[in-house]
Amino acid sequence: MNFFKKCYCRLFQTMFRMMLPFMPYREPKILNTNEDVAKLFQDNGVERVLLVTDEGISKLGLTKKLEQELKKNQIKCEVYDKTVPNPTIDNIEEALEQYKKNDCQAIIAFGGGSSMDCAKVVGARVANPKKSVEQMKGLLKVHGKMPLLVAVPTTAGTGSETTLAAVITNAETKDKYAINSFPLIPRYALLDENLTLKLPLHITSTTGMDALTHAVEAYIGRSTTRKTRRCALEASKLIFDNLEVACKDGQNKVARKNMLRAAYLAGVAFTESYVGYVHAIAHSLGGEYRVPHGLANAVILPYVLESYGKSAEKKLKKMAVFLGFVDKNVSASEAAKIFIERIKQMNKNLEIPNKIAEIKEEDIPRLAKHAAKEGNPLYPVPKEMNAKELETIYKQIMK
Ligand SMILES: NC(=O)c1ccc[n+]([C@@H]2O[C@H](COP(=O)([O-])OP(=O)(O)OC[C@H]3O[C@@H](n4cnc5c(N)ncnc54)[C@H](O)[C@@H]3O)[C@@H](O)[C@H]2O)c1
Ligand SMILES: [Fe+2]
Repeated sequence: MNFFKKCYCRLFQTMFRMMLPFMPYREPKILNTNEDVAKLFQDNGVERVLLVTDEGISKLGLTKKLEQELKKNQIKCEVYDKTVPNPTIDNIEEALEQYKKNDCQAIIAFGGGSSMDCAKVVGARVANPKKSVEQMKGLLKVHGKMPLLVAVPTTAGTGSETTLAAVITNAETKDKYAINSFPLIPRYALLDENLTLKLPLHITSTTGMDALTHAVEAYIGRSTTRKTRRCALEASKLIFDNLEVACKDGQNKVARKNMLRAAYLAGVAFTESYVGYVHAIAHSLGGEYRVPHGLANAVILPYVLESYGKSAEKKLKKMAVFLGFVDKNVSASEAAKIFIERIKQMNKNLEIPNKIAEIKEEDIPRLAKHAAKEGNPLYPVPKEMNAKELETIYKQIMK
């Protein structure tokens, strides 16, 4: 990237970093049981809610207990279960219709990142009826008071239950983009590991690697705070200690609980300290080829970390020392190498591939432009790269 563009990016990021203490970041209040959710609605005079989820979760019956609890408390629960992975504008508009038709007063975002993001943007549309989803794209475009939103994550995970982001796909243009606005941070989150016990192995592994990517990208970025660094380190430790256990034994409640906690902490870290080029590339692949988000991140993470070279070594060493991978006397470059190897090894143990077969060479310039547009100037990455430089990474990842 040329000198002037680099200066512009860094200046933009510095401005945002300086504004950080004045931004209305908040964390959701944690609820522990379905009874807590019913009580919350009762206390707020809510009689009709829309629960947004997807077909898979609905068929597994995961929402049933909460639905029954709400019914017991005379709260009518409408279910929208047509959310697709990489949720679309059509999903949002359809769910919004159901919300309006039934005169709902609150929303439950029940599922993985796809259902939670869909639900969050339904809330944004209720608060901003004159703004289309496309017009909310980017930074701080959602205003007004959202309906009461309770997030119930069933993957561990995107951390969407705590972030100001929602990632939406325009099915026609295949453009996948983030909407980043403070009202999107859910007011409440129900963290219940029992909901994740049926999560299939490959979803457990890839969504867990998504959470690790959040922690690593937030930590090595240049806009961290003491809090986000602590959350990122804690999340990484929980993931390295628990992800393989949860994959081997899906019924292990302790590992499942720790993974939900890790995803939450990683969410707290990246919502304030951003992600980086791993996510920018993953979003381009999700939009174009529907590559699942966690899988894309898991594959891309080691390549991008290697491409950062010297610029990320010191921070990666700090992570490696914290995680007990290396002694603090090891050089930064050696420690970074070992850290990246550990990620590759974990991918291998989890049977996650190291290439993405869908990438077509002729698509790379367009995909790289998309990723550069997402990342620059917003993400405070260790090393700025333009579209041409990002193309190299796509070429390494393609089969
Ligand atoms: N808003 C944010 O901050 C944020 C952060 C990262 C990613 N994302 C977005 O989140 C989406 C990905 O979300 P995801 O990785 O959680 O996957 P997902 O929500 O797309 O779900 C993947 C699959 O897992 C199934 N599933 C979910 N929970 C289950 C359970 N407990 N048991 C059995 N099956 C279950 C679903 O039915 C679905 O088929 C992407 O669109 C990504 O861009 C958002
Ligand atoms: Fe992610």
